[in-house]
Amino acid sequence: MPKVRLLPSNIEFEVLSGQTVLQAALNNNIGLPHRCQVGACAMCMCKKVSGEVIYDLEPMLTEKEQQQGWMFPCLAYIESNLVLTLDE
Ligand code: FES
Repeated sequence: MPKVRLLPSNIEFEVLSGQTVLQAALNNNIGLPHRCQVGACAMCMCKKVSGEVIYDLEPMLTEKEQQQGWMFPCLAYIESNLVLTLDE
């Protein structure tokens, strides 16, 4: 099962297949910031340190933001381990 590690807390949680990163965090009682859960409010935006995400519905990110690693946990699915930072 792929895992997500959150920095700076170093908390880890597993993501079941078919779950978004945000759903998996909430199911594990991990309080990731969020509001709409559909990619509209940008409350959940955080930065990828490593790993790749895939989207059914591409979030509204500029090319620069994507290069900087910004992602939307409420829309993102993962296939391999992911490290995210909530530090910025
Ligand atoms: S929770 Fe609103 S964009 Fe992710």
